[in-house]
Amino acid sequence: MQTAPVKPLKPWFQVIDDVGDSIVWSEFFGNENPVELDIGCGRGLFLFTAAQKNPDINYLGLEIDYREGRRTAERLKKKQMQNARVIGGDCNVVLTKMIEKHSVSAAHVYFPDPWWKKRHHKRRLFTQEFTGILSDVVQPNGHVHSWSDVAEYFDIIRSLMDAQPNFNALTAAPERDPADDMDYQTSFERKKRKLGLPIYRGLWQRKTLAG
Ligand SMILES: C[S@@+](CC[C@H](N)C(=O)[O-])C[C@H]1O[C@@H](n2cnc3c(N)ncnc32)[C@H](O)[C@@H]1O
Repeated sequence: MQTAPVKPLKPWFQVIDDVGDSIVWSEFFGNENPVELDIGCGRGLFLFTAAQKNPDINYLGLEIDYREGRRTAERLKKKQMQNARVIGGDCNVVLTKMIEKHSVSAAHVYFPDPWWKKRHHKRRLFTQEFTGILSDVVQPNGHVHSWSDVAEYFDIIRSLMDAQPNFNALTAAPERDPADDMDYQTSFERKKRKLGLPIYRGLWQRKTLAG
């Protein structure tokens, strides 16, 4: 049986190995606009909505699940969006090896996988090392946004971020009623709010570089 050919989605979707060793933002997006990351972008509701709302900001989604990443990229391609892209692969590789330090104006990490079982907690994205990585990639005065519906994991995220010496905690925007079914920050926010679950929101600002 023949398998369906994989649809070409470049430049909206590329896997890490096809991107090259490093990313120069002005070449990647073809302009000098600020760049924001959606780490674990999933189905890309945030990426898509934010990119449409802010044409002068470039958005890059990082997604380890190629199927999800490609699905997001298909939506971006359909609208021929010039300021949003997805890279398929482990965000840690992109963050630590491929992008220039302090080169992004915001990192959004919405609903990172909670890995419920205790023996799986080591797979969670947020660790002390990860908050250090965020502090290396976000530019001075830039922001990290992270939301979750899992109180226990969010407490850990908040403690780790608050303990990271290069960030100051700010007050995140309060919850608001959605105007329609697409008016949620992410697909996970929509799913969890429809279940009536509380959403915990965190916002931190990168301090200026020392010295
Ligand atoms: C619970 S989903 C949330 C998706 C989206 N942010 C939302 O709020 O709807 C978490 C996403 O993070 C992705 N992910 C987990 N670890 C990752 C990693 N190391 N690099 C990139 N993506 C990752 C998963 O594949 C999944 O799509």
